[in-house]
Amino acid sequence: MPITVLLGAQWGDEGKGRITDALAKEVDIVARFNGGDNAGHSLTIGSQVVRLHLLPSGIFHDACLNIIGNGVVVNPLSLLKEIAEVNSAGVSVTPRRLRISHAAHVILPGHRALDAAYEAAGGIGTTLRGIGPAYSDKAARFGIRCGSMANPDDFAMAVRAHTLRVNAILTRVYDRPPLDAESVAEEYRAAAHQLAPFLEDTAALLHNALAQGQRILAEGAQAALLDIDHGTYPFVTSSNATIGGVLTGLGVPPRAIGRVIGVAKAFNTRVGGGPFVTELEGDLAARLRGSGANPWDEYGSTTGRPRRVGWLDLVALRHAVRLNGIDELALTKLDVLRGLPELHVCIAYRFGDRVIDHFPQDSALLARCTPVYQTLPGWQDEVSHARCPEDLPAEAHNFIATVERFAGAPVSLVSVGPEREQLIRRQSTITRCN
Ligand code: IMP
Repeated sequence: MPITVLLGAQWGDEGKGRITDALAKEVDIVARFNGGDNAGHSLTIGSQVVRLHLLPSGIFHDACLNIIGNGVVVNPLSLLKEIAEVNSAGVSVTPRRLRISHAAHVILPGHRALDAAYEAAGGIGTTLRGIGPAYSDKAARFGIRCGSMANPDDFAMAVRAHTLRVNAILTRVYDRPPLDAESVAEEYRAAAHQLAPFLEDTAALLHNALAQGQRILAEGAQAALLDIDHGTYPFVTSSNATIGGVLTGLGVPPRAIGRVIGVAKAFNTRVGGGPFVTELEGDLAARLRGSGANPWDEYGSTTGRPRRVGWLDLVALRHAVRLNGIDELALTKLDVLRGLPELHVCIAYRFGDRVIDHFPQDSALLARCTPVYQTLPGWQDEVSHARCPEDLPAEAHNFIATVERFAGAPVSLVSVGPEREQLIRRQSTITRCN
């Protein structure tokens, strides 16, 4: 049984968590392959909104095994906090339900301190979770892997040494106070004791699961345009959030992937710096962002920062479809567009007197592009009660068909609200054309 992959197709925050949650009941394993606690998946379970940062979204389905793959960077304290929160919501997170890859790297206080120092010195607007420094250490071969937690005493020694090394940089280069290496080491020794039972060779586990025909969902964090290689560098995260990240971040072969689902919002948002061609300001931006009174309004679920908002950029979405070989799109937040007299979708970029129909690799060039819009009629009817395609107004069908035609992938799921049942499954008339 091949792997289904679920990826963000924009700048993150597309609503991947709620789509994974919907698909998790159909699979045996949900496996996270990239990122760390910079991610934030908000799920509405009954009357409760739960925010997951590191735990895969299958954690709320009892029969589902959840894997934190080797491509993820794990902050042990954040993970323990999240496990405690989920436990207190009545879902018990035991090693039967969760496995952490030996080969995933840990995020330590030194990484967070460096992230803060880099940002203060003129950064890109990171989530300050230590993601970049942790992946830097991994690539520089200074990193500490989760597997070290199997021996808490050795782990504590490694954490102490890491903290002392970071202290030298903090004090000498950035003129910042050092961290208390002894207390950090003690805190992480205790965390290692608690997390050791969850450690596993997750690549081997997945190989066995594939051989047994188990159904696997690979869950991405962040998204195509935040990918370290293919996103708007340097305004990106430090992992591969595109399809290649599944292979390296879980250790599975390409032929095991059977289906790729891209999640895209019906408009665009991004947090942090970087080019955003369709960005809006003023009343319309405030309207799309929401007041913040609802957990699903456009405020970062990890940092609470207001998200930048704009019209749907179909050039960027087509780029994500092509990069990832997306078979199907899940289109979220269609309900938010209701009530607008007309809608715009970006179908090309203007750069000086040139019209560009592809997403440029050069972020500096992208930053100087302006949007070429196609205007579509809006819809006035409430769509949040829609449960099947027939419930949607003609203008919404037209919007979805435009997305499909331009992006080159069928829209198979449409979400019209945060509740589990506010999800429409549809048969598309187009087939994948990338
Ligand atoms: P970092 O991943 O914390 O290093 O942040 C790098 C960039 O990615 C910043 O612009 C962040 O706002 C953005 N980013 C990281 N994780 C997410 C996410 O889950 N959703 C949206 N943006 C994110």
